[in-house]
Amino acid sequence: MPGGLLGIEGLDRGEIEAILERARHFQKQQAETRKMDTLRGRMIVNLFFEASTRTRTSFEIAAKRLGADTISITASGSSVDKGESLVDTLNTLNAMHPDAIVMRHAASGAPHFLARYLVATPIINAGDGTHEHPTQALLDARTILDRRSTLEGLRVAIIGDIAHSRVARSNMYLMSKFGAHIVLCGPASLVPQALAEITPGVTITHDMRDALRDADVIMMLRVQLERQHEAAFPAGEYFHFYGLRLEHMELAKPDVMVMHPGPINRGREISSEVADSQRSVILNQVENGIAVRMAVLDRILSN
Ligand code: CP
Repeated sequence: MPGGLLGIEGLDRGEIEAILERARHFQKQQAETRKMDTLRGRMIVNLFFEASTRTRTSFEIAAKRLGADTISITASGSSVDKGESLVDTLNTLNAMHPDAIVMRHAASGAPHFLARYLVATPIINAGDGTHEHPTQALLDARTILDRRSTLEGLRVAIIGDIAHSRVARSNMYLMSKFGAHIVLCGPASLVPQALAEITPGVTITHDMRDALRDADVIMMLRVQLERQHEAAFPAGEYFHFYGLRLEHMELAKPDVMVMHPGPINRGREISSEVADSQRSVILNQVENGIAVRMAVLDRILSN
Protein backbone atom coordinates (compact mmCIF):
# COMPACT_ATOMS: atom_id res chain seq x y z
CA MET A 1 0.00 0.00 0.00
CA PRO A 2 2.75 2.62 0.69
CA GLY A 3 3.94 1.90 -2.87
CA GLY A 4 0.54 2.77 -4.36
CA LEU A 5 -2.83 1.11 -4.89
CA LEU A 6 -3.22 -1.08 -7.95
CA GLY A 7 -6.18 -3.23 -6.94
CA ILE A 8 -8.28 -4.74 -4.16
CA GLU A 9 -7.16 -8.29 -4.98
CA GLY A 10 -3.75 -7.77 -3.39
CA LEU A 11 -4.97 -6.02 -0.23
CA ASP A 12 -5.65 -7.87 2.99
CA ARG A 13 -8.62 -7.21 5.26
CA GLY A 14 -6.52 -5.19 7.69
CA GLU A 15 -5.40 -2.76 4.98
CA ILE A 16 -8.95 -2.34 3.69
CA GLU A 17 -10.28 -1.80 7.22
CA ALA A 18 -7.58 0.80 7.89
CA ILE A 19 -8.55 2.78 4.74
CA LEU A 20 -12.25 2.59 5.57
CA GLU A 21 -11.60 3.76 9.15
CA ARG A 22 -9.47 6.64 7.93
CA ALA A 23 -12.20 7.55 5.44
CA ARG A 24 -14.67 7.60 8.34
CA HIS A 25 -12.36 10.04 10.11
CA PHE A 26 -12.27 12.28 7.01
CA GLN A 27 -16.06 12.10 6.61
CA LYS A 28 -16.39 13.60 10.11
CA GLN A 29 -13.51 16.04 9.72
CA GLN A 30 -14.78 17.45 6.42
CA ALA A 31 -17.84 18.78 8.23
CA GLU A 32 -15.54 21.04 10.28
CA THR A 33 -12.37 21.58 8.23
CA ARG A 34 -12.50 22.04 4.47
CA LYS A 35 -8.73 22.20 4.06
CA MET A 36 -5.86 20.45 5.83
CA ASP A 37 -2.11 20.69 5.32
CA THR A 38 -1.24 16.99 5.70
CA LEU A 39 0.12 16.79 2.13
CA ARG A 40 1.31 20.39 1.76
CA GLY A 41 4.12 20.64 -0.79
CA ARG A 42 3.23 17.31 -2.43
CA MET A 43 2.37 17.12 -6.12
CA ILE A 44 -0.15 14.62 -7.45
CA VAL A 45 -0.65 14.05 -11.17
CA ASN A 46 -4.09 12.86 -12.31
CA LEU A 47 -3.52 11.12 -15.61
CA PHE A 48 -6.82 10.20 -17.25
CA PHE A 49 -6.70 8.45 -20.64
CA GLU A 50 -10.43 7.66 -20.42
CA ALA A 51 -13.47 9.81 -19.65
CA SER A 52 -14.33 10.38 -16.01
CA THR A 53 -16.46 12.79 -13.99
CA ARG A 54 -16.67 11.31 -10.49
CA THR A 55 -13.25 9.70 -10.06
CA ARG A 56 -11.17 12.49 -11.55
CA THR A 57 -13.03 15.26 -9.73
CA SER A 58 -13.04 13.53 -6.37
CA PHE A 59 -9.32 12.64 -6.54
CA GLU A 60 -8.65 16.28 -7.29
CA ILE A 61 -10.86 17.53 -4.44
CA ALA A 62 -9.37 14.93 -2.07
CA ALA A 63 -5.79 15.97 -2.87
CA LYS A 64 -6.63 19.67 -2.49
CA ARG A 65 -8.42 19.11 0.83
CA LEU A 66 -5.23 17.48 2.10
CA GLY A 67 -3.21 20.49 0.93
CA ALA A 68 -1.47 18.87 -2.06
CA ASP A 69 -0.96 20.48 -5.46
CA THR A 70 -2.61 18.68 -8.34
CA ILE A 71 -2.23 18.59 -12.09
CA SER A 72 -4.85 16.94 -14.27
CA ILE A 73 -3.92 15.56 -17.66
CA THR A 74 -6.41 14.00 -20.04
CA ALA A 75 -5.56 12.21 -23.27
CA SER A 76 -7.42 14.78 -25.33
CA GLY A 77 -5.57 18.07 -25.12
CA SER A 78 -2.25 16.39 -24.20
CA SER A 79 0.57 15.32 -26.49
CA VAL A 80 -1.03 11.83 -26.63
CA ASP A 81 -3.22 13.46 -29.30
CA LYS A 82 -0.04 14.13 -31.28
CA GLY A 83 0.99 10.47 -31.15
CA GLU A 84 3.19 10.45 -28.03
CA SER A 85 3.53 6.90 -26.66
CA LEU A 86 2.53 5.90 -23.12
CA VAL A 87 6.18 5.35 -22.16
CA ASP A 88 7.22 8.77 -23.45
CA THR A 89 4.31 10.44 -21.68
CA LEU A 90 5.29 8.68 -18.44
CA ASN A 91 8.95 9.62 -18.78
CA THR A 92 7.97 13.23 -19.40
CA LEU A 93 5.73 13.38 -16.34
CA ASN A 94 8.24 11.58 -14.18
CA ALA A 95 10.89 14.15 -15.06
CA MET A 96 8.72 16.66 -13.16
CA HIS A 97 9.03 14.49 -10.00
CA PRO A 98 5.39 13.96 -8.97
CA ASP A 99 4.83 12.42 -5.52
CA ALA A 100 2.09 10.15 -6.91
CA ILE A 101 0.30 9.45 -10.17
CA VAL A 102 -3.42 8.62 -10.30
CA MET A 103 -4.09 6.81 -13.54
CA ARG A 104 -7.12 5.70 -15.56
CA HIS A 105 -6.56 3.81 -18.77
CA ALA A 106 -8.67 1.73 -21.18
CA ALA A 107 -6.06 -1.08 -21.14
CA SER A 108 -6.27 -3.60 -18.29
CA GLY A 109 -2.88 -3.64 -16.53
CA ALA A 110 -1.75 -0.17 -17.68
CA PRO A 111 -1.19 1.10 -14.08
CA HIS A 112 0.69 -2.11 -13.24
CA PHE A 113 2.98 -1.48 -16.19
CA LEU A 114 3.46 2.08 -15.01
CA ALA A 115 4.23 0.90 -11.46
CA ARG A 116 6.91 -1.50 -12.74
CA TYR A 117 8.36 1.23 -14.91
CA LEU A 118 8.37 4.07 -12.36
CA VAL A 119 9.32 2.09 -9.28
CA ALA A 120 9.92 5.14 -7.07
CA THR A 121 6.56 6.82 -7.76
CA PRO A 122 3.38 5.53 -6.08
CA ILE A 123 0.72 4.70 -8.67
CA ILE A 124 -2.98 4.71 -7.85
CA ASN A 125 -5.29 2.82 -10.18
CA ALA A 126 -8.35 4.93 -11.02
CA GLY A 127 -9.76 2.20 -13.29
CA ASP A 128 -7.92 0.00 -15.79
CA GLY A 129 -9.93 -1.49 -18.63
CA THR A 130 -12.13 -4.36 -17.47
CA HIS A 131 -9.78 -5.23 -14.59
CA GLU A 132 -10.10 -3.19 -11.36
CA HIS A 133 -11.38 0.11 -9.94
CA PRO A 134 -10.16 -0.20 -6.36
CA THR A 135 -11.25 3.17 -4.96
CA GLN A 136 -14.78 2.57 -6.29
CA ALA A 137 -15.04 -0.67 -4.29
CA LEU A 138 -13.65 1.09 -1.21
CA LEU A 139 -16.18 3.92 -1.44
CA ASP A 140 -18.95 1.38 -2.03
CA ALA A 141 -17.91 -0.48 1.12
CA ARG A 142 -17.76 2.81 3.07
CA THR A 143 -21.28 3.67 1.85
CA ILE A 144 -22.65 0.29 2.94
CA LEU A 145 -20.89 0.44 6.30
CA ASP A 146 -22.37 3.89 6.96
CA ARG A 147 -25.70 2.04 7.12
CA ARG A 148 -24.80 -1.50 8.26
CA SER A 149 -22.47 -2.69 11.02
CA THR A 150 -20.76 -5.35 8.90
CA LEU A 151 -20.41 -6.68 5.36
CA GLU A 152 -20.37 -10.27 6.61
CA GLY A 153 -23.45 -12.22 5.55
CA LEU A 154 -24.91 -9.43 3.41
CA ARG A 155 -26.50 -10.50 0.14
CA VAL A 156 -25.08 -8.24 -2.54
CA ALA A 157 -26.71 -8.48 -5.99
CA ILE A 158 -24.55 -7.08 -8.78
CA ILE A 159 -26.63 -6.71 -11.93
CA GLY A 160 -25.66 -5.83 -15.48
CA ASP A 161 -22.60 -6.02 -17.67
CA ILE A 162 -20.30 -7.88 -15.26
CA ALA A 163 -17.98 -9.20 -17.98
CA HIS A 164 -16.72 -5.72 -18.83
CA SER A 165 -16.94 -4.22 -15.35
CA ARG A 166 -13.86 -3.31 -13.31
CA VAL A 167 -16.26 -2.05 -10.62
CA ALA A 168 -17.79 -5.52 -10.33
CA ARG A 169 -14.37 -7.19 -10.11
CA SER A 170 -13.05 -4.89 -7.39
CA ASN A 171 -16.29 -5.23 -5.43
CA MET A 172 -16.22 -9.01 -5.77
CA TYR A 173 -12.68 -9.11 -4.32
CA LEU A 174 -13.60 -6.78 -1.48
CA MET A 175 -17.00 -8.25 -0.56
CA SER A 176 -15.63 -11.77 -0.68
CA LYS A 177 -12.76 -10.93 1.72
CA PHE A 178 -15.42 -9.79 4.23
CA GLY A 179 -17.78 -12.75 3.88
CA ALA A 180 -20.59 -11.20 1.83
CA HIS A 181 -22.69 -13.39 -0.50
CA ILE A 182 -22.37 -12.06 -4.04
CA VAL A 183 -25.03 -12.77 -6.65
CA LEU A 184 -24.12 -11.84 -10.21
CA CYS A 185 -26.96 -11.34 -12.68
CA GLY A 186 -27.32 -10.31 -16.29
CA PRO A 187 -27.65 -11.85 -19.75
CA ALA A 188 -25.45 -14.93 -20.26
CA SER A 189 -23.33 -13.02 -22.80
CA LEU A 190 -22.46 -10.40 -20.15
CA VAL A 191 -22.31 -12.76 -17.14
CA PRO A 192 -20.41 -15.91 -18.16
CA GLN A 193 -20.19 -18.80 -15.65
CA ALA A 194 -16.40 -18.39 -15.39
CA LEU A 195 -16.94 -15.23 -13.30
CA ALA A 196 -18.03 -17.45 -10.39
CA GLU A 197 -14.41 -18.68 -10.14
CA ILE A 198 -12.93 -15.22 -9.46
CA THR A 199 -13.63 -15.23 -5.72
CA PRO A 200 -15.34 -17.45 -3.15
CA GLY A 201 -18.96 -16.69 -2.22
CA VAL A 202 -20.21 -15.96 -5.75
CA THR A 203 -23.35 -17.37 -7.37
CA ILE A 204 -24.67 -16.57 -10.84
CA THR A 205 -28.24 -16.26 -12.07
CA HIS A 206 -29.69 -14.87 -15.27
CA ASP A 207 -33.05 -14.21 -13.64
CA MET A 208 -33.31 -10.73 -12.16
CA ARG A 209 -36.03 -11.75 -9.68
CA ASP A 210 -33.81 -14.52 -8.26
CA ALA A 211 -30.97 -12.07 -7.83
CA LEU A 212 -33.09 -9.48 -6.03
CA ARG A 213 -34.79 -11.83 -3.59
CA ASP A 214 -33.76 -10.84 -0.02
CA ALA A 215 -30.95 -8.61 -1.30
CA ASP A 216 -29.39 -6.23 1.24
CA VAL A 217 -27.56 -4.33 -1.48
CA ILE A 218 -28.33 -3.97 -5.20
CA MET A 219 -25.46 -2.71 -7.34
CA MET A 220 -26.63 -1.79 -10.81
CA LEU A 221 -24.09 -1.51 -13.61
CA ARG A 222 -24.10 0.33 -16.89
CA VAL A 223 -23.90 -1.67 -20.12
CA GLN A 224 -20.42 -0.73 -21.34
CA LEU A 225 -21.04 -0.41 -25.05
CA GLU A 226 -17.56 1.08 -25.54
CA ARG A 227 -15.97 -2.23 -24.42
CA GLN A 228 -18.29 -4.58 -26.34
CA HIS A 229 -17.30 -5.98 -29.67
CA GLU A 230 -20.41 -8.08 -30.20
CA ALA A 231 -23.84 -6.80 -31.28
CA ALA A 232 -25.40 -4.73 -28.51
CA PHE A 233 -28.47 -5.98 -26.62
CA PRO A 234 -31.41 -3.80 -27.82
CA ALA A 235 -31.99 -1.12 -25.12
CA GLY A 236 -35.73 -1.77 -24.65
CA GLU A 237 -35.23 -5.53 -24.39
CA TYR A 238 -32.39 -5.09 -21.91
CA PHE A 239 -34.50 -2.83 -19.68
CA HIS A 240 -37.38 -5.32 -19.79
CA PHE A 241 -35.22 -8.18 -18.47
CA TYR A 242 -32.48 -6.44 -16.43
CA GLY A 243 -33.62 -2.88 -15.75
CA LEU A 244 -34.30 -2.13 -12.06
CA ARG A 245 -37.83 -0.81 -11.57
CA LEU A 246 -40.03 0.03 -8.56
CA GLU A 247 -41.97 -3.24 -8.94
CA HIS A 248 -38.73 -5.13 -8.14
CA MET A 249 -38.13 -3.45 -4.82
CA GLU A 250 -40.59 -5.61 -2.87
CA LEU A 251 -38.45 -8.69 -3.60
CA ALA A 252 -35.45 -7.27 -1.74
CA LYS A 253 -35.09 -6.57 2.00
CA PRO A 254 -37.21 -3.58 3.11
CA ASP A 255 -34.08 -1.55 3.88
CA VAL A 256 -32.22 -2.54 0.69
CA MET A 257 -29.64 -0.05 -0.62
CA VAL A 258 -29.64 0.67 -4.35
CA MET A 259 -26.17 1.55 -5.61
CA HIS A 260 -24.69 2.50 -8.96
CA PRO A 261 -21.10 3.62 -9.63
CA GLY A 262 -22.34 6.00 -12.33
CA PRO A 263 -22.75 7.29 -14.90
CA ILE A 264 -26.34 6.02 -14.83
CA ASN A 265 -28.42 5.50 -17.95
CA ARG A 266 -31.99 6.17 -16.88
CA GLY A 267 -34.45 3.86 -18.63
CA ARG A 268 -31.69 1.48 -19.72
CA GLU A 269 -30.45 -0.28 -16.54
CA ILE A 270 -32.39 1.66 -13.88
CA SER A 271 -35.66 3.59 -13.84
CA SER A 272 -35.72 7.20 -12.67
CA GLU A 273 -38.24 6.24 -9.96
CA VAL A 274 -35.68 3.88 -8.38
CA ALA A 275 -32.60 6.06 -8.99
CA ASP A 276 -34.30 8.97 -7.22
CA SER A 277 -36.02 6.91 -4.51
CA GLN A 278 -35.34 6.79 -0.77
CA ARG A 279 -33.55 3.47 -1.26
CA SER A 280 -30.99 4.97 -3.62
CA VAL A 281 -27.58 5.85 -2.16
CA ILE A 282 -26.06 6.82 -5.52
CA LEU A 283 -25.20 10.38 -4.50
CA ASN A 284 -23.91 9.18 -1.11
CA GLN A 285 -21.46 7.03 -3.07
CA VAL A 286 -20.28 10.11 -4.96
CA GLU A 287 -19.91 12.07 -1.71
CA ASN A 288 -17.98 9.25 -0.03
CA GLY A 289 -15.60 9.14 -2.97
CA ILE A 290 -13.86 12.22 -1.60
CA ALA A 291 -13.29 10.86 1.93
CA VAL A 292 -12.15 7.48 0.63
CA ARG A 293 -9.71 9.03 -1.85
CA MET A 294 -8.42 11.31 0.91
CA ALA A 295 -7.81 8.19 3.00
CA VAL A 296 -5.95 6.48 0.15
CA LEU A 297 -3.75 9.50 -0.62
CA ASP A 298 -3.09 10.05 3.08
CA ARG A 299 -2.10 6.41 3.62
CA ILE A 300 0.21 6.37 0.63
CA LEU A 301 1.81 9.78 0.98
CA SER A 302 1.82 11.04 4.54
CA ASN A 303 4.90 10.30 6.63
N1 CP B 1 -17.68 5.54 -11.04
C1 CP B 1 -16.84 6.09 -11.93
O1 CP B 1 -15.72 5.63 -12.15
O2 CP B 1 -17.33 7.22 -12.54
P1 CP B 1 -16.48 8.11 -13.55
O3 CP B 1 -16.26 7.30 -14.79
O4 CP B 1 -17.33 9.34 -13.80
O5 CP B 1 -15.17 8.46 -12.89
